Amino acid sequence: MKALVLAGGRGTRLRPITHTRAKQLVPVANKPVLDFGLESIAAAGIKEVGIIVSDPREMLQPDHRTGEMITVLVNSQAEIRAAVGDGSRFGLKVTYIEQEAPLGLAHAVKISEEFMAGDSFVMYLGDNLIKDGITHFVREFEAEKPDAQILLAQVARPWEFGVAELQGERVVRLEEKPKQPKSDLALVGVYLFTSSIFDAVRAIKPSARGELEITDAIQHMITTGRNVRSHVIRGWWKDTGRVEDLLEANRIVLADLERRIEGTVDSATVIEGAVEIGPGTVVERSHLRGPLIIGSDARISDAYVGPFTALADGVKLERCEVEHSIVLDRSEIRDIDSRIESSLIGRDVVVTASDVRPRAHRLMLGDSSRVELS
Ligand code: TTP
Repeated sequence: MKALVLAGGRGTRLRPITHTRAKQLVPVANKPVLDFGLESIAAAGIKEVGIIVSDPREMLQPDHRTGEMITVLVNSQAEIRAAVGDGSRFGLKVTYIEQEAPLGLAHAVKISEEFMAGDSFVMYLGDNLIKDGITHFVREFEAEKPDAQILLAQVARPWEFGVAELQGERVVRLEEKPKQPKSDLALVGVYLFTSSIFDAVRAIKPSARGELEITDAIQHMITTGRNVRSHVIRGWWKDTGRVEDLLEANRIVLADLERRIEGTVDSATVIEGAVEIGPGTVVERSHLRGPLIIGSDARISDAYVGPFTALADGVKLERCEVEHSIVLDRSEIRDIDSRIESSLIGRDVVVTASDVRPRAHRLMLGDSSRVELS
């Protein structure tokens, strides 16, 4: 059994963060989303993993200091290769498989045929988080030996997902975003395949959005008489493709946090609940209400940090309030009167008050940024 992890894609729903970073490396509770997936693959006893990565692309963005528009080469592939390396940190042997463009999940399967060399494999979408891992799902597949097995979850809005129609545990039909769903069971981003999937991905044609769809490939397996089974997941799962989902995943992971304080906290600071503070971080005259995590070498002064917040390494907060948010490396927030909440703030961002008159909001935002002011 091998694994195929999809870490290419466009990440349009997470712009502007994904202009400069692979979305699979955006941290949840200060750990890249991709790490959760690789850990659960290793925990299921799988050793060999192919990771789908995309080519570098050119982007126009403002220069950090001058504000001038410059062309930068965004190489999320290099970033993923640097973060995961040969996989030995996870007990895995990683091979990178380059996808020339995000041509669909089934296209990613198609280009992995040589790597799979006839083995069965689990396909894992690199931006998905599954709390209880995949071990149970993999064992069931090995015991039942179907041609494919899909992971399903009950959802409130099935018309937004790929939906399965079942007879017992057997899948009889898959429909992408159906107007009148036959069930409330949506496809979760983990699939198990035997090598018979390769006949299906070769047989299908691109959809209206120009992608080779995995639902079409699985539907093709069903139509040609293959045995496609399902497994309904009980614990929580999240596709972290949107900000709201990323914040929700952060909330759920932080709910299990335990108190660990390695940095320096002064006597004027109040700490409530599960709070993790990394080495080299200094907290002074502040109020921290967990669960929350602060990375290393951060500085929190005269601030309030509320529940379900993850502050990455080197973040600086001064005279401000932040809650239910993710703030990435080295960003600074200073002298802001109103509380910042439900926010995702990228790396090296500065949010500060201005003394300049007339009073006004002065913004320098990258493409596709989203700001809500009140
Ligand atoms: P999606 O979230 O469906 O697609 P996307 O990354 O293009 O995102 P958006 O809709 O916001 O533009 O992809 C699921 C996962 O699969 C994600 O980790 C990216 C990866 N992927 C590939 O590796 N190759 C592909 O061709 C596609 C479509 C996705």
